[in-house]
Amino acid sequence: INRLKKEKKAVIPAHVYQRPEILLGVADFVGDSYKLAKLGAASDAKIIVFCGVRFMAETAKILSPDKEVLLPAPEAGCSLSESIGASDVRALKRKHPGAPVAVYINTTAAVKAECDVVVTSANAQKIMRKLYEKHEKVIFAPDAMMGRNLAKELGKTIGSDLIIWEGSCIVHDNFDAASVEFYRKMYPGVKILAHFECTPALTSVVDYIGGTGDMMKWVDDHKASSYMLITECGLGDLARTKFPDKVFVPMCRLCPHMKAVTLERVLSALESPTASQRVEVPAAVAARALRPIERMFELSEDNSPS
Ligand code: 13P
Ligand code: SF4
Repeated sequence: INRLKKEKKAVIPAHVYQRPEILLGVADFVGDSYKLAKLGAASDAKIIVFCGVRFMAETAKILSPDKEVLLPAPEAGCSLSESIGASDVRALKRKHPGAPVAVYINTTAAVKAECDVVVTSANAQKIMRKLYEKHEKVIFAPDAMMGRNLAKELGKTIGSDLIIWEGSCIVHDNFDAASVEFYRKMYPGVKILAHFECTPALTSVVDYIGGTGDMMKWVDDHKASSYMLITECGLGDLARTKFPDKVFVPMCRLCPHMKAVTLERVLSALESPTASQRVEVPAAVAARALRPIERMFELSEDNSPS
């Protein structure tokens, strides 16, 4: 894989939930959804072999229409992106006229095409705050858990000033909040971090809530000796290699979509991609989806006070 990617001028971005052999063996850059969207677009490679799931590869294609984007596991979806369609977003807009629509990056290109701004776990709070500067009501879709966590952080009421959609992540939506207390007793001093996609019952009893990039940064910034990263298991695997002196207590689940990518499939995509491994987004949809993605970059990097 490493020889072929040089020969073919290919780059391999990999989400932190990918298998360790991908993250440590062949990836050119590793990160959260936001970092992968930014770096994929900035790279001058001819081919992007996206080690992640379909919505990520679609985002890369929208940002780099001239590059060939390959998804080694073409069936790798996401329970969030499958929970909502473009017609659902249009119905929400009809029901709440004038309310801007922020959608999580975990959505299809067709859904992004219907919205005002895309957000990731790394910038959702910041972007939502900016939307509330100009609007009383905002629509956020499709992650209901993240919507409820945002409502709490921003002091908004679901159903009146924050309209959400009832989608959820199959990995994050049923971690057991009650076991947090048990683990705190078992591992005194352990710092417990949970992903934004976890339930509010869980996020209200942990030490930090954020996206995968922010969780890693929090660990880097703290001096505790043990941590629990409540999210997909890939993050803990990566953290063990980045912070060898720290202990990571497991409480994680595997995402079947993320783990569908294997080294064998990466190799076959590089050698001779099948039609289903080639990611295409219809030009009209891509043109409409690009604007809210660019808006995300603008708002997330805008440091004027909100
Ligand atoms: P982030 O890595 O952006 O936090 O996203 C998590 C996730 O579930 C991606 O599918
Ligand atoms: Fe989707 Fe959840 Fe898997 Fe991320 S972890 S790709 S949100 S199902």
